[in-house]
Amino acid sequence: VNGKQGAERQGSSSDMRIAVIPGDGIGKDVTAEAVKVIRAIGEVYGLGFDLEMLPFGADYYLDTGISMPPNGYTMLRDEFQAIYIGALGDPRIPDMRHARDILLGTRFELDLYVNHRPVKLFDARLCPLKDRGPEDVDFVVFRENTEGLYVNVGGRFKAGTTDEIAVQEEINTYKGVHRIIRHAFEHAKAHGLTKVCMSDKSNALTFGHALWQRVFAEIARDYPGIEPAHLYIDALTMQMVKNPGQFQVIVTNNMFGDIITDLGAQLQGGLGMAASGNLHPGKTSMFEPVHGSAPKYAGKNVANPIGAILSAALMLDYLGCAPEAQAIEKAVRTAVQTLQGPAEIGGALGTRETGDFIANEIKRQRQ
Ligand code: IPM
Ligand code: MN
Repeated sequence: VNGKQGAERQGSSSDMRIAVIPGDGIGKDVTAEAVKVIRAIGEVYGLGFDLEMLPFGADYYLDTGISMPPNGYTMLRDEFQAIYIGALGDPRIPDMRHARDILLGTRFELDLYVNHRPVKLFDARLCPLKDRGPEDVDFVVFRENTEGLYVNVGGRFKAGTTDEIAVQEEINTYKGVHRIIRHAFEHAKAHGLTKVCMSDKSNALTFGHALWQRVFAEIARDYPGIEPAHLYIDALTMQMVKNPGQFQVIVTNNMFGDIITDLGAQLQGGLGMAASGNLHPGKTSMFEPVHGSAPKYAGKNVANPIGAILSAALMLDYLGCAPEAQAIEKAVRTAVQTLQGPAEIGGALGTRETGDFIANEIKRQRQ
């Protein structure tokens, strides 16, 4: 794909360089469809994309012993405008070493502090909740992505014995809490939204989550048009099921955000529907569907590529291509509404045929 128009719009003389890491299992299947859709967008809208396929993943790790080369993170950060990842995880590597290095490693090393996960229902029939439609399920979760319980601070004493003590600390910093909450309010403001709900467990975790309470109140004062709300995480999960229509923006910590975005994925029709972006605003960011590598479905042309395709849309939006991102979303909506997709959306298409439909729909929309 080589169009000069898009390059000009980006204000640069070269194409947009994107690192693509299909990874493991169905990650390879769905990435092929996301790439197909990106290429269709490039063709139809005259945008130049330079997609560089990188081999990192289970096979590469087992062959070479390298999960991520020593210069890998700086290479991703300095040579690309965005990173696209399929999925990571392989039963031959039970400790997930390679997945931690590639996925969590990139989040930490590139300081991708925002995990942006939209929860958006395209058709009422996909929602497991009774009598709920697209108007009830349309919010975004901002998950803190660089600290919390994910920092692996702690240790083991008398490991492997019946006296074992295991400590896993949760890190909450003023800087970390501040920047994710600030991002949530800025997103609300930029999108004309009127409510931000922060979720923590400050009734039990009285040090770490008291910090969330303080910072949330402090930042909310700067946004008079936005109503701040708070729910403890247990109540939030209940309300997501009971009355999801009350939410516009949810902001929470790393662990809680991980959990509630799987719940959110089901509200929009399944894990295969959910998109995500790991962002550091203004810097190279990484996009991936929320789902895992589902090894037993790998290579069988059955995986749902929609979450992967919507992650590509999120990436284009982030790269300054909002109309193109909307075109992808529109094509996905048509696919969902007309059952042109895989079993997960009630259709009879394979992974590849779903990608073909969406790519063709993008071309048809422009005719
Ligand atoms: C996710 C995943 C990861 C996480 C795993 C694979 C470490 O579940 O992106 O939600 O917990 O962040
Ligand atoms: Mn998860």
